[in-house]
Amino acid sequence: MKDIKFNFNDCLISTDEINETAKRLKPEICSMMEATSNGYEDEKAFVNLPEDKAMLEKVSELVKEKKELNPDYLVIVGIGGSNLGTIAVQEAVLGKLYNNLDSSTKILYADTVDEDYIHCIIKIIENSLANGSNVILNCVSKSGTTTETAANFEVIFDVLQKYKKDVENYVVVTSDKGSELWKIGVEKGFDTLEIPQKVGGRFSVFSAVGLFPLGLLGLNIRALINGAKHIKDLCLGDDIDSNHAAKSAAVQFQHYTQGRNIFDLFLFANDLESLGKWNRQLVAESLGKEYNKRGEKVNVGLTPTVSIGSTDLHSVAQLYLGGPFDKFTTFVSVQENFSSIKVPSCLEIKELVAGIQGRSLKTIMDAIFEGTKVAFREKKRPFIEITLPDKSEYSIGQFLQFKMMETVYLGYLLNVNPFGQPNVEDYKRETRRILSQK
Ligand code: PA5
Repeated sequence: MKDIKFNFNDCLISTDEINETAKRLKPEICSMMEATSNGYEDEKAFVNLPEDKAMLEKVSELVKEKKELNPDYLVIVGIGGSNLGTIAVQEAVLGKLYNNLDSSTKILYADTVDEDYIHCIIKIIENSLANGSNVILNCVSKSGTTTETAANFEVIFDVLQKYKKDVENYVVVTSDKGSELWKIGVEKGFDTLEIPQKVGGRFSVFSAVGLFPLGLLGLNIRALINGAKHIKDLCLGDDIDSNHAAKSAAVQFQHYTQGRNIFDLFLFANDLESLGKWNRQLVAESLGKEYNKRGEKVNVGLTPTVSIGSTDLHSVAQLYLGGPFDKFTTFVSVQENFSSIKVPSCLEIKELVAGIQGRSLKTIMDAIFEGTKVAFREKKRPFIEITLPDKSEYSIGQFLQFKMMETVYLGYLLNVNPFGQPNVEDYKRETRRILSQK
């Protein structure tokens, strides 16, 4: 089990400035520490999810039970914090193309209400159901009242019940205990998994929200949360050099106050794209706020973006290196891939690029990454570097927990509450009003 590594050498913020800002974070680090002894009673309850043995047992038992049905497909109905963490971990560990490989249980995500997309999901699962195979439907909604989730649940459930007389055995509801969705789940005899009340959607990946589907796909969910536990201890510490979350928050806050407001997560691994999207939601919803904690109108927020190396070098690098000085980059790379592929030693077209023959694609990717960093340095574009030893559950667990803690520390520095999303609720409320009038 290896640690993820951090390098702040190119952040273009002095050690004194980092230490000054980190000093300001001390009360928040103490408050996070206090939260670790408050179970789920604290607003920072998310930090305790990896320690919840009872939840892990419950999830593991249900995973075991549903695995016995040998499902062809698992359909997750949920949106935002209710599915982004699952997608991020699934794709990082199993790959974006997982469903196209020889996978025993494939996964489909029904998030938005796009008819053509949902139509495809229905076609896929109907093929399977018509052959007598099994499909598990996991409806995930903390509030239980999200319009898209309610609509998609009804549509997919309707298909499922045409093929399964004992349909209740194929449905798992993950929600707040006592939500309307929870109550209906209990009434109809579905299996129910609880999201602790004070754990918000975007902080819920280590709850049943992420652990049940990931466990059903065969991921090592214990290793995932062990990675989280490991980095959590470091990110609660006083020493700024090992408290990566505090240090990274301090650096980003400094850049924000100096006028940079685009924070790009530049991931040099195709299968980490959804990890970037998970982070985008985490940062945007937690830190983009109209009012500060004193109720003053501030309209603050870091704008998170996602880039993929080397793909997006051919799309955004010109802007990043030549455009305005309004960005800060966090590069993420992976030390060891799961596979190794070499360019043949004898090339078909020798004249094209020198030095690739007999080299692994990883060596070529590393060269591109090194070249990118040199170019960023030359153009005085600030960045930090995070190196994942691999894309194992343990490494990804560390990254997720680090990012959630970093976001809370940034919230403290910006003086905003990272746990609400009042403006998202505005649109949700309006949608419900419009639909109820029609
Ligand atoms: O992070 C959040 O709180 C949101 O993105 C929610 O997860 C999202 O809006 C879906 O809400 P719910 O889980 O209540 O259906």
